[in-house]
Amino acid sequence: MFETLTPQPADKILSLMAAYREDPREGKIDLGVGVYKNAEGVTPVMRAIKAAEQKLWETETTKAYTGLAGDPAFADAMIALIFADAVARDTVAAVATPGGTGAVHQAFDLIRMANPQARVFVSNPTWPNHISMLKHLGLEMVPYRYFDEDTRGVDVDGMMEDLRQAQKGDVVLLHGCCHNPTGANPNAVDWQGVVALLQDTGATPMIDLAYQGFGDGLEEDAAATRLIAASVPECLIAASCSKNFGIYRERTGLLMAVNHDTSRVGVTQGTLSHLNRQNFSFPPDHGARLVTMILTDDTLRADWKAELEEMRNGMLSLREQLASDLQRLTGSDRFAFVGQHRGMFSRLGLPPEIVERLRAEHAIYMVGDSRLNIAGLNAATVPILAQAIADTVD
Ligand code: LMR
Repeated sequence: MFETLTPQPADKILSLMAAYREDPREGKIDLGVGVYKNAEGVTPVMRAIKAAEQKLWETETTKAYTGLAGDPAFADAMIALIFADAVARDTVAAVATPGGTGAVHQAFDLIRMANPQARVFVSNPTWPNHISMLKHLGLEMVPYRYFDEDTRGVDVDGMMEDLRQAQKGDVVLLHGCCHNPTGANPNAVDWQGVVALLQDTGATPMIDLAYQGFGDGLEEDAAATRLIAASVPECLIAASCSKNFGIYRERTGLLMAVNHDTSRVGVTQGTLSHLNRQNFSFPPDHGARLVTMILTDDTLRADWKAELEEMRNGMLSLREQLASDLQRLTGSDRFAFVGQHRGMFSRLGLPPEIVERLRAEHAIYMVGDSRLNIAGLNAATVPILAQAIADTVD
C-alpha cells in the first residue's frame, strides 16, 4: 500500500536548517529556524532548568503515567503565568501537549469537532505550519491582511476590514505577541479594536502564544491575551514553553480553552482530554515538570526571569545595532522597522532573489520570505549582515 504515497511538500524552515548544516563554508550565519542562540552561537540550557533537572533527578520516584491532561499543577502554574488575574481559574479547561505545535494542533482538532464548518481566519502571512496543519485537518482557511509591505508594520485597517467577515462559529487566529514571521505587532489601541470586533462578530479568538517574554516582557507580552480572554465569552490559547524556557526538544506546551459560562468548562475539559487520548494519549511530562518546579519556587523563578530578561534585552540590542548599521550603510531609514519589531523575527521585505544571493554569496541563511531570526546574530555578525544587505540591495 505504501506505493500510493506521494512526496509531501518540504517544510521551508526545516529544509533551510538542513541546508545550513550541510554548508561547509566557514563563518556561515544561520538566521533561519526560530531557536534562541547566545553570543557564542549556543542554545543554552537555562540555569533554572539545569537546577530543576538536578532536583528532579534527586527526588523523582516514578515515571508512571500522569493524567491525560498532564499534571494539573503544570496547568495551574501556566494559567497563573499567562492570565495573572484576568480570568478566574474555574473558567479555564487545559491540557498539556507536546510543545506549542501540539497545542495548536489540538486546538484545531477541537474546533473541527465543535464545528467542522468553522472558517479559521489566519494572518497573511502567518507561521507556515498553521496553514499546513489546517490543510491537513481539512479546516477551511481565510487569510486576513496583516503585514503592510511598505511600512513593514501592521496593516491595521486592512486587518479590521477582513476580520469583519468573520461570524459566530468562525475562529480568528491571532499571535499573542512577537508575530511570526513578521515581528510586527498590533499596539494596545489596535488590540482594543480587535476585541470590539470580536465582540461584534461573535467569532471565537484563538491565540498562539509562543514567545511570551521575548518581546516587551513577560507581563507586557501577555497583555493582549489577558484582554481578549477577559472580554469575550470564549477563547482558545495555545502556549509554548519551548522558547521562554529554552526546552525545545522536551516538547512542552499547554492548550487552554476559556469559557465564561463555567457550566461548559467540564465538558470542554473532558473533550480536550479525549482528544489527547486519540492523538497521542498522555502528554510528555519532563519539560512540564521542570516548568512547574521553576514557576512554584521563588528562587528558581527569580533566576529564570532574570535569564529570560538577559535574552530579551540581548535581542533588543541586536535589533538596535542592526537598524543603526543599516541606516549608516544604506544612508536611509528604510530598515528602521527592525528596531521597532519585537520577538525573534523580522521580515525584512527583501525579494527572494536577494535572499538567495545572501545565501549563495555570503553564506547568510534566512527564510525565503526574508524572515530573519534576530537571535541567530551576535555583536560581531551584525556588521557582516548589514554590509551584505547593503551590498546586495543597492
Ligand atoms: C520557527 O518558526 O522557526 C519555529 O517556530 C520553529 C518551527 O517549528 O518552525
